Amino acid sequence: MTSKHINILAIESSCDETSASVIQDARVLSNHIATQKVHARYGGVVPEMASRAHIENIIPVVDAALVDSGISKEDITAVAFTQAPGLIGSLLVGACFAKSFAQALNVPLIAVHHMQAHVLAHFLEERKPEFPFMCLTVSGGHTQIVLCRSHLDMEVLGETMDDAAGEAFDKVAKMLGLPYPGGPLIDKYAKEGDPNKFKFPSKEMKDYTFSFSGIKTSVLYFLQAQRKTDPEFAEKNIQDICASVQHTIIKVLMAKLEKAAKDYGVTHIGIAGGVSANSGLRTAITEAGKKNGWEVYIPKFEYCTDNAAMIGITGYYKYLRGTFTDLAATPSARATWI
Ligand code: KG4
Ligand code: ZN
Repeated sequence: MTSKHINILAIESSCDETSASVIQDARVLSNHIATQKVHARYGGVVPEMASRAHIENIIPVVDAALVDSGISKEDITAVAFTQAPGLIGSLLVGACFAKSFAQALNVPLIAVHHMQAHVLAHFLEERKPEFPFMCLTVSGGHTQIVLCRSHLDMEVLGETMDDAAGEAFDKVAKMLGLPYPGGPLIDKYAKEGDPNKFKFPSKEMKDYTFSFSGIKTSVLYFLQAQRKTDPEFAEKNIQDICASVQHTIIKVLMAKLEKAAKDYGVTHIGIAGGVSANSGLRTAITEAGKKNGWEVYIPKFEYCTDNAAMIGITGYYKYLRGTFTDLAATPSARATWI
């Protein structure tokens, strides 16, 4: 090894993005993401197709990340990979690749929790949060309010008891005949619509627990009723429906986040995960920040949805702490928080 730096090669393959990144001393040298288009027509990710696409993508994506980083593979200090949670077949592809690569290079292997990585994506930015830091992590599979006391000391204060926020966006989009992933399309149509046009009730949950399945069901019944008198109701009102659904989801997210921030006296607040790319949520947290005197952190779009740079930065902090894993490490679809 010739480099004096800590160079982490990171692999992310938990769902439908194959991504590789090189992080040098907490700085991103490269971040390549191959998004799998094959799922669009099925209205959701087809796990077996995702695993096969990861197998096809992984070598070209890692190769591109290494070339782009300008460092040779001999200068890699450690290999980090997403161990959990995610689709088991998809995780296995990344884990097997990472293990083989680390073994071939004779460097340490670092297992990373995908949700912890979403939170630490904030530390890829120039302006980094101060601790204690509170993060609302909203993705396709999770909705969590996380209290971070340090980079690796995190506590989940509350999460969803049914659908995740991203899942609610995607399921409503499917009802409207939009392709997967529907979240970005709802965001796009919502910009032209009236957020107060239709009312969708949200269930009151205690403390920091979320529930989004009720919103989804109320949209379903509403559309069924309207389509009886006008089969094209959804197409004609798509902007207002999207704006109203988005408004309802954001209202729930922000109410819980504001409560948690107040209860714990935290003023450094961020959002993370795929849904943090939502323009309505980005505006809502900015406004809440002004109202409450928060320092607000919103990731760049490329660090909101799944990416290996966030796995790399988590790997970097684990490397500093000396938290390594061995070849016996097995991926897990539903790991507990690590
Ligand atoms: O974090 P992520 O890339 O993958 C998971 O770990 O699940 O999140 C994907 C989710 C999908 O549900 C997608 O629809 C949603 O993030 N999403 C959005 C937007 N961009 C992505 N939801 C609402 N508005 C967006 N602009
Ligand atoms: Zn994710």
